[in-house]
Amino acid sequence: MTVRVERSEDHRAVHALNERAFGRPNEADLVDCLRRSNAFVPGLSLVAEDLEGRVVGHLMLSYVVLAGGPALRVLSLAPMAVEPEVQGRGVGSRLVLAAIDAAETREEPLIVLLGHPWFYPRFGFEPASRSGIEPPHPVPDQAFMVRRLGRWSPDVRGKVIYPDCFAGVD
Ligand SMILES: CC(C)(COP(=O)(O)OP(=O)(O)OC[C@H]1O[C@@H](n2cnc3c(N)ncnc32)[C@H](O)[C@@H]1OP(=O)(O)O)[C@@H](O)C(=O)NCCC(=O)NCCS
Repeated sequence: MTVRVERSEDHRAVHALNERAFGRPNEADLVDCLRRSNAFVPGLSLVAEDLEGRVVGHLMLSYVVLAGGPALRVLSLAPMAVEPEVQGRGVGSRLVLAAIDAAETREEPLIVLLGHPWFYPRFGFEPASRSGIEPPHPVPDQAFMVRRLGRWSPDVRGKVIYPDCFAGVD
């Protein structure tokens, strides 16, 4: 399996993969919307490709704004999807580690996400409240997480404002 940056010819496969993994179109539409938005970062939409060249995993890092402090953009990991039939075989882990590497390379301070508390802590994600990062709406503390990176500092804090693309995803 290979993890690489998404190419334009992957867009349809990524859309279909997100639909299958989430069982609804919302996250697939979110990916398409983010790609067209100014939150999108070329090079931070990653795919996992199997030996036959099939896209079996995808994740996107894009920008969100931190309000309530000095105006700052930080990376958000959303959405993330692995083909249902290959889940539990390490594809998701490879993608998350690649995303962390890519964010470190860009000298970003942190990655924020809303996700499964049983999956992300193994990669160093911890409740965002510990870093003074607040969700836009009340969510379970354990599910709203931050991975501090090498360039993290305590002044990177505030309430996360998601782009409008997220309106269709709860
Ligand atoms: C979440 C997801 C991306 C993980 O990808 P993956 O390729 O299955 O991840 P990995 O194989 O690297 O690791 C999965 C780990 O989670 C564990 N796990 C899977 N489902 C679990 C559950 N319901 N409760 C607790 N642990 C669970 C697995 O046992 C495995 O742990 P292990 O390595 O200690 O055995 C994938 O399951 C997925 O696409 N789910 C549907 C969409 C989704 O929920 N996306 C994420 C939104 S936050």
